[in-house]
Amino acid sequence: MKMTGNTILITGGGSGIGRELALRFHALGNTVIVAGRRKEALERTIAGREGMHSMVGNVEDPEAIAAFANRVVAEHPALNVLINNAGVMRREDLTRTRDLRDAEETIVTNLFGPIRLTNALIDHLAARQNAVIVNVSSGLAFVPLSGTPTYNASKAAIHSYTVSLREQLRGRVEVIELAPPAVRTELTPGQSMRDEYMPLDAFIDETMALFSREPTPKEILVERVGFLRWAERDGRFDQAVEMLNAH
Ligand SMILES: NC(=O)c1ccc[n+]([C@@H]2O[C@H](COP(=O)([O-])OP(=O)(O)OC[C@H]3O[C@@H](n4cnc5c(N)ncnc54)[C@H](OP(=O)(O)O)[C@@H]3O)[C@@H](O)[C@H]2O)c1
Repeated sequence: MKMTGNTILITGGGSGIGRELALRFHALGNTVIVAGRRKEALERTIAGREGMHSMVGNVEDPEAIAAFANRVVAEHPALNVLINNAGVMRREDLTRTRDLRDAEETIVTNLFGPIRLTNALIDHLAARQNAVIVNVSSGLAFVPLSGTPTYNASKAAIHSYTVSLREQLRGRVEVIELAPPAVRTELTPGQSMRDEYMPLDAFIDETMALFSREPTPKEILVERVGFLRWAERDGRFDQAVEMLNAH
């Protein structure tokens, strides 16, 4: 992936990992459009920065996604990079019958969101030079945290989907997976204060260094996520499940 001169759309660009990626890519000389539901968060991200734009959009709603994609392309015809970063993570108790709304919203946002937005933009992207799609999965795609079962499943699914997308688009659009470990953001309440999670700055530094490798790795994996990413390959899957779920 080239690191400068792109026009990049980042969903969930108003907070956390998406926001920091947006600021770093902008600082490298890229035009960046941040998208999400909260206008104020997006406005705070772009405040005073030329070459940064915001667009309110909700990746839960199929019709809104199609309209949103048309608007992005109309306003930013140079768009060549899509970063599907928006996501939600909810705790779920599977031991008794429950309202499945959280599970359904998780699949709609984390899995259908990227599928639908990619579908809405693929004709445009496939016709551009240097086109890239980045899907943000998670270390939990590879070893599940039992308290967030549908989240883990949505990320395992987006991992698999990304492999197929890469194969189908080979030679036309570069497809990259970014699988973070536990990072200090507000993805779940209070998570940004947890000492045992990776500091956001350190995560972004390592991530940007990996993006700038030539060629960019097809999976962006900071060192810390290796424990989860390679557990199965290294014959330590059961042990990793046990360790991850010990607390
Ligand atoms: N932090 C971690 O430990 C970690 C680890 C592995 C993977 N990840 C993944 O990294 C990505 C970013 O998460 P984060 O940690 O940076 O948490 P975050 O700050 O909560 O970011 C999630 C972003 O997604 C946006 N979003 C959520 N639902 C949306 C919707 N329906 N439509 C449009 N935007 C929506 C949110 O913006 P609005 O609320 O304004 O819509 C928010 O900016 C997620 O995919 C997450 O699963 C995070």
